[in-house]
Amino acid sequence: MSRAADILTAAVKAKSAITLGLATGGTMVPLYAELVARNRAGSLSLARATTFNLDEYVGLAPDHPGSCHRFMAEVLFDPTDMRASHAHLPHGDALDPKVEAQAFQARIDAAGGIDLQLLGLGQNGHIGFNEPTSSLGSRTRIKTLTVSTRCANRQYFEIEADVPRYAITMGIATILEARAIVLLATGSAKAAAASAMIEGPLSAVCPASALQLHPRATVVLDAGAASALQLSDHFQHVHPEGQDSVFS
Ligand code: GLP
Repeated sequence: MSRAADILTAAVKAKSAITLGLATGGTMVPLYAELVARNRAGSLSLARATTFNLDEYVGLAPDHPGSCHRFMAEVLFDPTDMRASHAHLPHGDALDPKVEAQAFQARIDAAGGIDLQLLGLGQNGHIGFNEPTSSLGSRTRIKTLTVSTRCANRQYFEIEADVPRYAITMGIATILEARAIVLLATGSAKAAAASAMIEGPLSAVCPASALQLHPRATVVLDAGAASALQLSDHFQHVHPEGQDSVFS
């Protein structure tokens, strides 16, 4: 977790008016808590940063307790010096979600693209809400959520019927257009997806495998998420204790 926080902190220090791509989900909670702590301690400022979140549920207003808007406000935006007007998420309650998806992509493009995209990992290998078989060439649009993703997100909603069926999400091409990517995954429930992402074939069946195409993608795993890797000896050799390789 501190490794991912260190990468983000270094990126913001190198370019204070940075454009960050942000993710929601339980994996991000301790990371954002670390960033909030650094912000309070004065070692990290987000005052000049612009952010674009990966996704939002179709049908949810920004103040809905299960929305990505609400999550981001609670865990990162409100407790830091981040400026609300610089934080962009798709509007799930837009009258025409398809138009909103295109408009969100246009806002990213108009901002000059994303410097550093943060990603989590779905148990089925999804990134953002790009579910298995999403086009590797996709840009921001509406995706239908899988049953497994709706089950994983059931905890954020009062009753099952409230769990949204659709989301507006950056596409896989949108994500690959970011100038750098950091994917964070923790826990053994992510082990199979992490293995497919890193060591499996490049395939839309595992959307995260698209990161194999990116020249500056860093994957940060804890021991649980790394537990199914076949080449872990080599990864430990190149990145002892998760540190940069000698040539980084
Ligand atoms: C969610 C989000 C992703 C997130 C992933 C993992 O559905 N759309 O951005 O990375 O699934 O979530 P978690 O971190 O809660 O396991």
